Amino acid sequence: MNKALILIILFVYSCKSEISDNIVVISPDDKIQVELKLDQGMPQYAIHVDGKKIFRPSVLGYRFRDQPDLVGPFQLVNSNTDMIEEDWEPVWGQEKSIHSLSKMIKLELRERLVPHRQLNLYFRVFNDGVAFRYEIPEQASLDSLFIIEELSEFRFARDGKSWWIPGSHAFDSYEQLHQVSLLSEIDSANTPLTYISEDDLFISIHEANLTDYAGMTLKRSRSDSLNFLSNLVPWPDGDLVKTTAPMHSPWRTICIGRSATDLLRSRMILNLNEPNQLSDVSWIKPMKYVGIWWGMHINKYTWVQGDQHGATTENAKRYIDFASEHDIQGVLAEGWNRGWEAWGQEGALQLTEAYDDFDIVEVVEYAKEKNVTFIGHHETTANVAAYEHQLESAFAYYDSLDISAIKTGYVGAIKPSGQFHYGQWMVEHFRRVVKLAATHHISLDVHEPVKGTGIERTWSNMMTREGARGQEWNAWSEGNPPDHTTILPFTRLLAGPLDYTPGIFDIRFDDYKPENKVHSTLAKQLALMVVLYSPLQMAADLPENYENQPAFQFIQDLEVDWDETLYLEGEIGKYVTIARRHGSEWFLGAITNGDAREVEISMNQMVGGDQIAECYVDTEDAHWDDNPYRIWIGSYKVSPTDTLKARLAPGGGMAIRLRPLTEEEMEHELLSISDLRQDQGARE
Ligand code: NOJ
Ligand code: CA
Repeated sequence: MNKALILIILFVYSCKSEISDNIVVISPDDKIQVELKLDQGMPQYAIHVDGKKIFRPSVLGYRFRDQPDLVGPFQLVNSNTDMIEEDWEPVWGQEKSIHSLSKMIKLELRERLVPHRQLNLYFRVFNDGVAFRYEIPEQASLDSLFIIEELSEFRFARDGKSWWIPGSHAFDSYEQLHQVSLLSEIDSANTPLTYISEDDLFISIHEANLTDYAGMTLKRSRSDSLNFLSNLVPWPDGDLVKTTAPMHSPWRTICIGRSATDLLRSRMILNLNEPNQLSDVSWIKPMKYVGIWWGMHINKYTWVQGDQHGATTENAKRYIDFASEHDIQGVLAEGWNRGWEAWGQEGALQLTEAYDDFDIVEVVEYAKEKNVTFIGHHETTANVAAYEHQLESAFAYYDSLDISAIKTGYVGAIKPSGQFHYGQWMVEHFRRVVKLAATHHISLDVHEPVKGTGIERTWSNMMTREGARGQEWNAWSEGNPPDHTTILPFTRLLAGPLDYTPGIFDIRFDDYKPENKVHSTLAKQLALMVVLYSPLQMAADLPENYENQPAFQFIQDLEVDWDETLYLEGEIGKYVTIARRHGSEWFLGAITNGDAREVEISMNQMVGGDQIAECYVDTEDAHWDDNPYRIWIGSYKVSPTDTLKARLAPGGGMAIRLRPLTEEEMEHELLSISDLRQDQGARE
């Protein structure tokens, strides 16, 4: 190389490092501005939205167990900016097609001092938020990496009201009610952590593509009450992530909206995941399901074989009959396999051996004849070491029976002890199960899971999960208060589908547990089937509680895979209204917290010409606490210029199916939607 050429290269480098003192990346719509700089060689980012500062300069970097911190001083070696635009179609989802548009910058950094380690930072700036991730590229001086701290900061510029569940490792459970407080009052939080800034921006922090890494919680800095630090869930020895270079961290996501419903519209988390990995997806089927499940939670049945055993051949057939007669595509049975009586004992659960009174071959055959999918169940009692032992045979067993969907569960403290549900070891376990399930053409519904981070884009057999305080808590605790389900869409559901298991009709279940009840009206239970998105959606009650119930018609008609979704209105913890389209039909769910609410919904977004609205609404006197069953069901004609007016009872809701008129209806005089509001009050 001659001297002149060397000079030119140095010149280019020095230009780059001067620019690096302050790089600005702006969202495609020019509204979000990310400033990146090396402050004395230390990387920092800050964010402005609509000219308002939302994040003060926040530092980035790593600490390792056995080598110096990777925090700088760095020099910028190279940077590339790209516009990334794609349209893609999810295998199932809340819409048929998703548009992704973002500006991405890659900063290639190199330590100024020996050993000159390299660190790459990626930022993607969408119109609905910002994401960043770390890459530690393959390099001579690095091999094994033991991360003891990820130094990502989220230095909020302003305080504000926030909705969160504690992130402290000791809880090891997302099954908590959300706390509402100022951001500055949070000690630690799981994500999604959602907040409204004092200057009215709606912000939710989470992560995308959690792969080969530990789940991130947030902890407040001791010295700055608006600074939150990444706090990864540890291994038993205190390491947070054990990995090797090259390594990519998950994306840290900052979703940004001007209203609460903007957060629901965002598909940034899915867009940050890899495209679908499965060539054949024909076996992945969204569906409604019922199950031998709620009966155990209310003590009608037992999981264990005995007089009250739920999963008997006969009972399973009864559920299958009910499903096939009512357009329900799946039936789950828990407690079908041996070992429940020895819960917690080593090697107790036998995942390939049915109880004597459950002939699994007969049940699966019967389901097939009736065109119903039998959904299997693996309860692991969180003894993951034991589960890993049985994994291959347990999945091969279901495969041999041609079972294409299963529910898994991880109740209790993880074994090997010292591991947490959300640490790297479990993240890797969960992914192993998803991949193994895919090789057997099995879809998953995971309970006590690690949070969703959008991997269903890549592994669409990972269909739904719990990871929230679900309906089951109403069966055996003080219950979920009416506002719980008005918070979940803006927090937990931002992470992906939720198997909340709505649809309880026997709200008080006094025959079984007079002390407990569901804290909602019947109409709200219907609305939740629309509001709480899940491609496997459970109608959770006992079939006998649905028989001869006019309100069940809504569940029977309901679809669960969507061409389009509209987030019509919502305030976190107060109310939310969502409409979803499947073909020529819309299904709308509106829910409220403990307060009654008058809703007005203009029909023009959903209705092109005249349509029928089949309405399931609280009556005027309904109330979640003392009058939960009262529901008004009526059909009305709607046209695009109409506004639907209805009252939601305290703890109530409304479910609507909008469909084309039948020929017969075209010839008759029909009630108009303007009659609905009055009908709620006047009639039985
Ligand atoms: C907890 C799950 O969330 C629940 O759905 C299941 O019935 C029990 N574990 C038993 O596996
Ligand atoms: Ca659970």
